[in-house]
Amino acid sequence: MKILAVYYSRTGTTEAVARSAADLLAEMGHALTRVALQPRVDLPYPLWLALSFVPGSRFPVAAPPDPSGFDACLLALPKWTFACPPVNTFLAQHGSRLPPTAVLVTCGGWDQDRYLAQLERRLQGQGVSVLGGLALRKKELQGDPLPQILSDLLGTCFPVSGS
Ligand SMILES: Cc1cc2nc3c(=O)[nH]c(=O)nc-3n(C[C@H](O)[C@H](O)[C@H](O)COP(=O)(O)O)c2cc1C
Repeated sequence: MKILAVYYSRTGTTEAVARSAADLLAEMGHALTRVALQPRVDLPYPLWLALSFVPGSRFPVAAPPDPSGFDACLLALPKWTFACPPVNTFLAQHGSRLPPTAVLVTCGGWDQDRYLAQLERRLQGQGVSVLGGLALRKKELQGDPLPQILSDLLGTCFPVSGS
């Protein structure tokens, strides 16, 4: 499968998970393209925090990838209060062109299930087939950015043809 792994990470947790997940998918035999969403400007934490309280808020990102032409997508992002603005921008621009997509959320450990469910509904509302979703707490990822539960999800969502 031709898979787009697209992620946003401010402090590196989501990036480590997205890299490990992409490496595993490549080892499984998939063709991976991994792209980080880069905000045009990196705001200081208090401004990101303020924006994260505004549901649906967006922030411009430099050259977001066009998901057309991929067979599947892995979207990884941190859980931010009510909104992760760079990811909202990507979804507003390209969400409706996403192929079947699995969603990975990293978080501190509060309210992540509601956030994940809401994101999945949003993608479905844009006509995207959601392959699966997982919220992982930062604590669970320390020392192992690829816990078994994530490997299992990847194997289920992105099966290798012929296996
Ligand atoms: C602006 C902001 C808001 C956040 N809000 C939440 C939250 O509501 N719930 C939660 O569990 N974690 C929250 N977090 C913590 C992040 O989700 C967590 O640290 C995440 O793993 C960071 O990913 P990153 O290192 O890829 O940026 C927030 C972090 C930031 C910066």
